[in-house]
Amino acid sequence: MKKFPSVLLIPFLLFTFFMFFVPIRATSSIVFTTLGRSLYCFDIFATLISPSSSQAELQLTDGVSVNYNGFFPSSPSSLISLFNLSSSSSRTNNIEGLIYVTERSGYSTIYLDIYPSSSSPSNRRETLELRTRLHFALLPEHDGLPSVSMKDRPSLSGDRLIFVSTHEPSHSPRQSWAAVYSTHLPTGSTTRLTPDDIADFSPAVSPSGRWTAVASSGERGWTGEVQELNTDIYVFKTSDGSARTLVVEHGGWPCWADDSTIYFHRKSSDEWWSVYRAALSTHGDAPLLISIERITPPGFHAFTPAVSAAAPGLIAVATRRASSQFRHIELIDLRDGNINAYIEVTRVISPNAHHFNPFFSPDARRIGYHRCRGSRNGGNPPLLLENLKSLKPETFSLFRIDGSFPSFSPDGRQIAYVNLPGVYVVNSDGSNPREVYNGNAFPTAWDWKRKGVIYTSNGPEFAQESTGVDIISITLNEDDDKAEPLIKKLTSAGKNNAFPSPSPDGKWVVFRSGRSGYKNLYVMDAVEGESAGIYQLTEGPWSDTMCNWSPDGEWIAFASDRDNPGSGSFSIYMIHPNGTGLRKVVHSGNGGRTNHPWFSPDSASLVFTSDYAGVSAEPISNPHHYQPYGEIFTVKIDGSEIKRLTHNSFEDGTPTWTPFFLEPTDVVESLQGVAHCRFDDCHWLSLQNRIKNVLNGTGC
Ligand SMILES: *[C@@H]1O[C@H](CO)[C@@H](O)[C@H](O)[C@H]1NC(C)=O
Ligand SMILES: *[C@@H]1O[C@H](CO)[C@@H](O)[C@H](O)[C@H]1NC(C)=O
Ligand SMILES: *[C@@H]1O[C@H](CO)[C@@H](O)[C@H](O)[C@H]1NC(C)=O
Repeated sequence: MKKFPSVLLIPFLLFTFFMFFVPIRATSSIVFTTLGRSLYCFDIFATLISPSSSQAELQLTDGVSVNYNGFFPSSPSSLISLFNLSSSSSRTNNIEGLIYVTERSGYSTIYLDIYPSSSSPSNRRETLELRTRLHFALLPEHDGLPSVSMKDRPSLSGDRLIFVSTHEPSHSPRQSWAAVYSTHLPTGSTTRLTPDDIADFSPAVSPSGRWTAVASSGERGWTGEVQELNTDIYVFKTSDGSARTLVVEHGGWPCWADDSTIYFHRKSSDEWWSVYRAALSTHGDAPLLISIERITPPGFHAFTPAVSAAAPGLIAVATRRASSQFRHIELIDLRDGNINAYIEVTRVISPNAHHFNPFFSPDARRIGYHRCRGSRNGGNPPLLLENLKSLKPETFSLFRIDGSFPSFSPDGRQIAYVNLPGVYVVNSDGSNPREVYNGNAFPTAWDWKRKGVIYTSNGPEFAQESTGVDIISITLNEDDDKAEPLIKKLTSAGKNNAFPSPSPDGKWVVFRSGRSGYKNLYVMDAVEGESAGIYQLTEGPWSDTMCNWSPDGEWIAFASDRDNPGSGSFSIYMIHPNGTGLRKVVHSGNGGRTNHPWFSPDSASLVFTSDYAGVSAEPISNPHHYQPYGEIFTVKIDGSEIKRLTHNSFEDGTPTWTPFFLEPTDVVESLQGVAHCRFDDCHWLSLQNRIKNVLNGTGC
């Protein structure tokens, strides 16, 4: 045979190389869920505190991303000189400032807005013209303060910013990473004020700046609390964290009226969240508790207090009362012996929204808080895919999706997800969203070989072994979006058959079933279901669940409570599809949770959700989250290199990892009828079980 002339072969090889290798990006994407977060649309608002009919709520932040946990610095003009800002727009004595948390860059960071103030209420709208706003990040990215972390609860003391950050890992699992730091703004140098391996939440700096109070569970650490963290209040020197002293047992969210008075909240023994006042002696080297007094009576919940040095007897709180389904801001006026003079602030001006975490202006004339901006206040629309800053942008882009249990079609062009009740499919550019199944179903997983086939399970979630849940396949009509998908039931016993995951050769589906009386893993025929072939993969008196088949076909990863059946603690295990090689990959300390494993495209790592980093904020300062400790992590399949991908105080879960690279930009929700602001206040603040006490004369 004649030798192929190499001069022809080389271009051919090059052509082949570019055809087949160049378009394949060396990157992938991780997509996960945060309960309700896509609809929070938080902005900071403020209103005058004096009640008046013309009273209006003013939106202070610009409607980009979410903006929350604000703080009015006491001398904004000093910030102008601190940052060498041109005073052209600023008659410096007429400047207002707002420091707040924003997630506009794909991670939470602290911003400062400076804008001209208005002395007369009549033209205050004009003060909100965004054109006049100076607007910048207070904590620029630099060595030692990585941006992929949570920054929260800012306050200012001179030229130092005091805040919470999660950028340093704790040394043990289930120990929160939240700690208080102080950044010297002119130089950017940052010091940790919280001792190593202690978590501190909700810092507040005293009016003199000398003291900082925090909520901390101290050496005890986090023991799984998801409602009240049972923190104590510690006080330390703002300058260096020294003289750290336990001043109040059982309390959270401290705020200072003056250098010897702290207000805080706690859940009282009568079950009502209430605000308390502690008198301290802070003249000596270490603060000393003198007395504690309950301020708000039983009959309604009051929490997240704020006070102002300019009006020490005036306390702002968030409340939940039987008279409203919403969380509202109220003032308690204790001045002039006005015991229990309550002034409603937000219920009269925006009755149908939850309002969070009030704060006063330095002159105590205005009160700020955050709430969902709603659809009428402009700002960014809800997002289908919110881009987050990736820890390893060269390996994966990172997104939060507005739905749960996302999974990608093998070509990466479509995403299936759950929005209970119903399974949806959307193109990965956000176009053509459609419901493909309208029953209660979870999770989603695409077949690797047969086009348009999605596996899910239909029935109630979080149910007992015997509950009627069955696996179905949904076959989309790829030529006609409008055509009804074909639904096929693959199991029939109805004994909690759920979490299907197909093998890469398209022949098998692994799933969990309660058919033996325990939830164990089974493998069945992918096309015809259990009637065409089934075998049991794991067996034992415990729960194996949330299984995922590796792209190389070698492993099935799953979550199991076999280390302590029934305890609620889950580890991630792996097993070969032939039943050999069982091993534990990762657990979150003793009693922790690692759930929802999903293999990386190269089958060498897993992404999963876990309580490995505890909780990052007091849950009562957020909307409802069942599992506020949920964060997304990756781990090598040998159990090494645990990496935290998400840092926030919300519940992150149900991650997927696709070989398809999504450009790191936001994708706007195009599904019609997605309501803004559709999220719940903390369920455990429900007044239902207490309502009779309320009607029985106490509150309201
Ligand atoms: C502001 O200007 C002063 C004097 O020119 C300089 O020393 C300082 O570093 C500047 N600060 C900032 C934040 O740029
Ligand atoms: C089971 O599967 C694994 C992974 O494919 C393989 O290495 C092993 O030899 C198999 N064992 C048996 C007994 O078939
Ligand atoms: C409420 O009901 C209880 C029991 O029915 C009764 O003893 C009490 O007097 C009522 N009033 C108040 C204010 O608790």
